[in-house]
Amino acid sequence: MKKFLIIANWKLNNTKDNISEFLKYLNIYLLDNNQKNIISIAPSFIYLEKLSREIKYKNFFITAQNVDINLQGAFTGEISVLMLKDIGVQYVILGHSERRILHHENNNIIAKKFSLVKKYHLTPILCIGETEKEKKLNKTYEILKNQINSIFEICGTESFRNTVIAYEPIWAIGTGKSADIEYVQKIHKFIKNYIIQYDHLSLDSLMIQYGGSITSLNAREFLEQMDVDGLLIGTASLQYKEFLKIVKISNNIY
Ligand code: 13P
Repeated sequence: MKKFLIIANWKLNNTKDNISEFLKYLNIYLLDNNQKNIISIAPSFIYLEKLSREIKYKNFFITAQNVDINLQGAFTGEISVLMLKDIGVQYVILGHSERRILHHENNNIIAKKFSLVKKYHLTPILCIGETEKEKKLNKTYEILKNQINSIFEICGTESFRNTVIAYEPIWAIGTGKSADIEYVQKIHKFIKNYIIQYDHLSLDSLMIQYGGSITSLNAREFLEQMDVDGLLIGTASLQYKEFLKIVKISNNIY
């Protein structure tokens, strides 16, 4: 039986009132329906605790959208892994393309954050993916290898044990233009095979999510692919009705 990891990445969206409504319906659904999958939400930092207080379902995990590279000290405006751990966060998204592009995070910074998150026993979700231009130039594999290699270099060959990779082709994010299903399956298989070359890890210990214009209309086809272990959902996760539709779909695929 396949156990998926379904995460809502709310990015810079949602406020107290609609979060309360969202959590109310999510609670009702989760408490009434046994979940075989792991369901999580990545809200803005300031709502992480609200989630941990208000979600009643025991198998629900909280995800942070980012973390600082430093543990503590004079770093105004940052959030540390110790703070995330303190309030019960489980997963931390790292290297999302919006952080790489808009906040100038490079592979080296992301690898250092990855190492810190693992050291404190939280689960990193490493986002990787190519731009449209890189895809057209047939550079996808090279880009993905570079993004993975930087983790190997800083964290060692066993770095991907008990972690998550989210394959998010940049051209598919927020565009309504998801990647082809066969293309995604091929890339996910490549990622697994590439990592296995360096570390013969059990494939159960590495999950690969897909992210990029997922909706309730295409979620099933992606989840039915052999090497798609979950979804990282942006726009379609903002409204509880759409997100719950996807959660329901995932629960019916074995
Ligand atoms: P969309 O689902 O809006 O394309 O966003 C995907 C994403 O960036 C999730 O991290």
